[in-house]
Order: sequence, then C-alpha cells, then structure tokens
Amino acid sequence: YGDFNAKVDYVFKIVLIGDSAVGKSQLLSRFAKNEFSLDSKATIGVEFQTKTLVLDKKTVKAQIWDTAGQERYRSVTSAYYRGAVGAMVVYDITKRQSFDHIPGWLDELRAHADKNIVIMLIGNKSDLGSLRAVPTEDPQELAEKEKLCFMETSALEATNVETAFLTVLTEIY
Ligand code: GTP
Ligand code: MG
Repeated sequence: YGDFNAKVDYVFKIVLIGDSAVGKSQLLSRFAKNEFSLDSKATIGVEFQTKTLVLDKKTVKAQIWDTAGQERYRSVTSAYYRGAVGAMVVYDITKRQSFDHIPGWLDELRAHADKNIVIMLIGNKSDLGSLRAVPTEDPQELAEKEKLCFMETSALEATNVETAFLTVLTEIY
C-alpha cells in the first residue's frame, strides 16, 4: 500500500549509445520529461532516467541509461550493458561519420550485451533535413542486414521520439 513500485509489473533497462553530440541525452530528456535544450552539455560518465507507462494493461517502468559518446568521458564497462533488454543506437543525419561508426557501436553491443537485446537504429535531427548527409537508403540497408528496426527522430521537434521508445518497449514486451 502506498508503495508505487509495488504496482510496477516490469522494469525494462534500455541503453543509449552512439557518437558524441548525436543527441542521445536530448532524446532521453524529450522522452522522459518532454524537455529539450539546444545548449546541452556533453555527458560525463553514466546517467539514467525512468519513465513509467502502461503497455497492454501492464505497468512498465523504462529505465533508460545514457552515457558519453566521447571516449575520454566514457566509463563504460559491461555494467552499463548488464541487464539491458533494449538499445537505441543513435547517429546524426547531418554527420556522415556518426553513421559510419554505427557498425563499431553494434560490435560493442554484441560484445557486452545479451544476445537477445532489442536494437533500434535511430537517425536523429530529422528537423535538419537541408543539412542531410545520410540518405535513408543507407540505414535502411544496414537495418535489413543486421535485422534492426530503424527510425528517424527529432528530439528538437519531438518527432518519432515517443514512437521509437514505445516500439522498443513493445518489442521487448
Ligand atoms: P554526448 O553526451 O557527448 O555523447 O552527446 P549526446 O549524444 O548526448 O548529444 P546531446 O543530446 O547532448 O546533443 C548534442 C547537441 O545536439 C545539442 O546542442 C543538442 O541541442 C543538439 N540536438 C540534439 N537533438 C537534436 C535534434 O533533434 N535536432 C537538432 N537540431 N539538434 C539536436
Ligand atoms: Mg549526452
């Protein structure tokens, strides 16, 4: 009684990975708090936020972990991936390099995470279409080859952010 946690049916851990500045922290902030900041600081170490929602009459607590894309700020050990049932692998549609690094992030995921983890490939900053450097054919091809879901999002405009997280959560569930 009075213990909110007692009502939670499932806790699902989801990890965010991808190069620095692709928008991982802002995607999380948009999803968890419906907030966005243009002068977001680079993440140092590991942070997490939770959001509780109802999926198919069950109360699901999403525990979303966010880490630094910058190597020097990363403190990622297998602890970051431990228990994760979902992963969002994020690139910036205006930064070709951030997409070219996706196979490396997938390797890291496969080295540390559970083999049944649900993976979503995210091309963020879809609001910056005029600066696009990654045509959608490339991630679509990669997603098909690697058997991942793929979606473009904008944390700034709140486009597809909720849908992306809900798709991962539903697939886990
Ligand atoms: P690290 O913590 O260093 O790994 O970076 P990050 O991936 O967490 O990036 P962060 O969320 O801090 O965002 C980096 C910059 O991109 C910030 O200036 C954000 O405001 C901006 N940004 C994030 N998402 C979007 C988006 O959807 N559209 C636009 N235009 N800018 C965005
Ligand atoms: Mg960050």
